[in-house]
Amino acid sequence: MKISIIGQGYVGLTIAQFAAEHFDVVGFDKNIKVVHNLNQGVSHIEGVDSNSLRKLINLGRYKATSDESDLKDSEVVVIAVPTPLTNERKPDLSFIESACIDIGKNLQSPALIINESTSYPGTLRNYIKPMIEQFSPKKVEHLYAISPERVDPGRTDFNQRNTPRLYAGLTLDATKRVKDFYSYFCDSLIEVSSPEVAEAAKLFENTFRQVNIALVNEFAQITHALGISVHETINAAATKPYGFMKFSPSAGVGGHCIPIDPTYLAEVAEAHNVPATFIRRANEVNREMAEYVVNRVESEVSQGLRGKNVLIVGVAYKPNIADTRETAAELVIEHLRSRGANVAWHDDLVSEWRGETSSPLLGADITIVLTKHDVVSETQIHQSAPYVFDTTGTIIGCQGF
Ligand SMILES: NC(=O)c1ccc[n+]([C@@H]2O[C@H](COP(=O)([O-])OP(=O)(O)OC[C@H]3O[C@@H](n4cnc5c(N)ncnc54)[C@H](O)[C@@H]3O)[C@@H](O)[C@H]2O)c1
Repeated sequence: MKISIIGQGYVGLTIAQFAAEHFDVVGFDKNIKVVHNLNQGVSHIEGVDSNSLRKLINLGRYKATSDESDLKDSEVVVIAVPTPLTNERKPDLSFIESACIDIGKNLQSPALIINESTSYPGTLRNYIKPMIEQFSPKKVEHLYAISPERVDPGRTDFNQRNTPRLYAGLTLDATKRVKDFYSYFCDSLIEVSSPEVAEAAKLFENTFRQVNIALVNEFAQITHALGISVHETINAAATKPYGFMKFSPSAGVGGHCIPIDPTYLAEVAEAHNVPATFIRRANEVNREMAEYVVNRVESEVSQGLRGKNVLIVGVAYKPNIADTRETAAELVIEHLRSRGANVAWHDDLVSEWRGETSSPLLGADITIVLTKHDVVSETQIHQSAPYVFDTTGTIIGCQGF
């Protein structure tokens, strides 16, 4: 069976690797450099090992391509393209649109089309299906299904095999086919009654995290004002054996999911005249944390920030990965620079970001730790500046929440 996976990023390449154990996989991506490197057996995704990729290429099980005509004859097509926000912070379905156009134009015979890109309820039924049909010259009747992705990049305890997956098709046939497909590489499949339930569940999972993170971020400000330790207080609360889940404060939320998916839910809620007040406010609280951190640092160092050399440690949005999408570092750096600080950053996993390169971990007036990768030495962080503010709460002996 020939499987095509549109988008060879965190989600698409991970699926490609698992699928290629059983099927012939074409990894389609518009990024020519990504395609070139993948065909050389060089993975750009943590969790997808280059050696395994090379093995699959040598077995003839995997090839990457930027040529959309390679999609033809696919029996299954998985859409795994980005669903970001526009500059106005509205859902941006342009990548899905482009994937649909390529599917519509190039698939001449019926296939199972699965969407793994996160979007609002109704996307499969009211956007993807009509868009593919519009661009299909022969009006091919495909099957349509969804199975939202739950991959957590960098995580080793949960993977494609042991992370339960939701699925649903637009028809009974599609539901059966999507179940058969994922059962090759996922042990726990959970059918829901419609694609809309699966789409909404995915958004709710991430919105749950977003509002709880906002709550703990607000709580960190309250405990500071009260002169008590937020971490000690949260750990004390976490001794309750039921009805409590621990979240930790931070300089904001990053990544492709938590800062973005709740906005998809809020937009669809408001389109149905339901005010998404709680979700909107949680977003604001999380985005305001960058300024709160900079205010705290400014108030704790003598003579403010103007002219000071500030080193940010960790610009990836979370530990041990190189992903900077929606990183809180962006807003923190913006606030610091607007107050006249000279800002450099240290993150050897990221190494290059926004035209800047990672600086050595030394010689600063102020160090602010936003993300602590395992490879970064605590001793070096302490020695990097006379004042260190640790937003991660993991380094003993620093200032922090
Ligand atoms: N990264 C995660 O942890 C995660 C988890 C769950 C769900 N998701 C969702 O999965 C989707 C994909 O996310 P990702 O993290 O894999 O993104 P990514 O940015 O890592 O990869 C997307 C890839 O798609 C390619 N691309 C963009 N438009 C294309 C097109 N029209 N045709 C072919 N290729 C195209 C890009 O070049 C890129 O390589 C998003 O909707 C995201 O919200 C991501």
